[in-house]
Amino acid sequence: KIPSLYEKYKDHFFIGAAVNQDTIDSQQELLKKHFNSITAENEMKFEKLQPEEEKFTFAVADKLVSFAKENQKLVRGHTLVWHNQTPDWIFTNKNGSLADRKTVLERMNSHISTVVKRYKDSIYCWDVVNEVIADEGQNLLRESKWLEAIGEDFIDSAFEFAHQADPDALLFYNDYNESHPQKREKIYTLVKGLVDRDVPIHGVGLQAHWNLSGPSYDNIRQAIEKYATLGLQIQLTEMDVSVFDFDDRRKDLTEPTEDMKAIQAERYEGFFNIFREYSDVITGVTFWGAADDYTWLSDFPVKGRKNWPFVFDEKHQPKPSFWKIMQF
Ligand code: XIL
Repeated sequence: KIPSLYEKYKDHFFIGAAVNQDTIDSQQELLKKHFNSITAENEMKFEKLQPEEEKFTFAVADKLVSFAKENQKLVRGHTLVWHNQTPDWIFTNKNGSLADRKTVLERMNSHISTVVKRYKDSIYCWDVVNEVIADEGQNLLRESKWLEAIGEDFIDSAFEFAHQADPDALLFYNDYNESHPQKREKIYTLVKGLVDRDVPIHGVGLQAHWNLSGPSYDNIRQAIEKYATLGLQIQLTEMDVSVFDFDDRRKDLTEPTEDMKAIQAERYEGFFNIFREYSDVITGVTFWGAADDYTWLSDFPVKGRKNWPFVFDEKHQPKPSFWKIMQF
């Protein structure tokens, strides 16, 4: 008999999975048994919820929330302010010119307040702002329409609007390459600024799109410890462990090699050992999917390539990685 992943971890942190309209059906039994939290992979992003001004489309997001309710799962909200999957109308006047700061702030507030209030009773935490740190160079923030239209304080405003809409929701800043030393410092600088200005923020989300060779355990530890000094909680929000390094563009494998499988299990073991060690600050670990039959990595960074990043295989059976993280 296969034990439940989330039950095994119930004294440490919750175990989540990203879901979508299809996997909520095709992976239903697996989700029910092993995960006690879900995140919408795409269905709560701006372009999905408000594709046109004041035309909200909640049907699919509602369906995911009902699934969670019926099965007593938590829901993480993802995401309110991001540079991707965000429609252009927000930043544009009827004549095509860039809308002014006040207009864009009002549109941001209207979106955040409508969405966050709608799910007040069902969504306990939100990735309010996603991926605003610049990957390279000296600039703290990446270039984006939000930054261009509003200015640097769009981040403070997003958190404030979310807090006004639901004072009980836990509000997160979420990003990737979170343990890369230079980006770690930048994320820290941003979040420390928010904390120092008393902006309502409660957590840092580490996406954890990792692979067999990176990041190092040491860099992960340093990131967790650094963010924890801010007095915020930490969640791993989008975990997957690709069998390919980011620069590996091979396309010819029909299944992972024995080596890859063994190293992946070892890596999962190492990661979860660290997570358990820091379970006083880590409140959740969410995978960006549930099993190897479906992952966004089949299209990223190489289109049409299988990736096998999870602890359950394509038939929803436990992999060696699963047994490793169950051993404690
Ligand atoms: C991804 C989804 O998984 C894909 O289906 C979609 O095409 C693009 O977005 N960081 C994030 C997530 O914060 O929202 C992204 O999700 C993956 C990277």
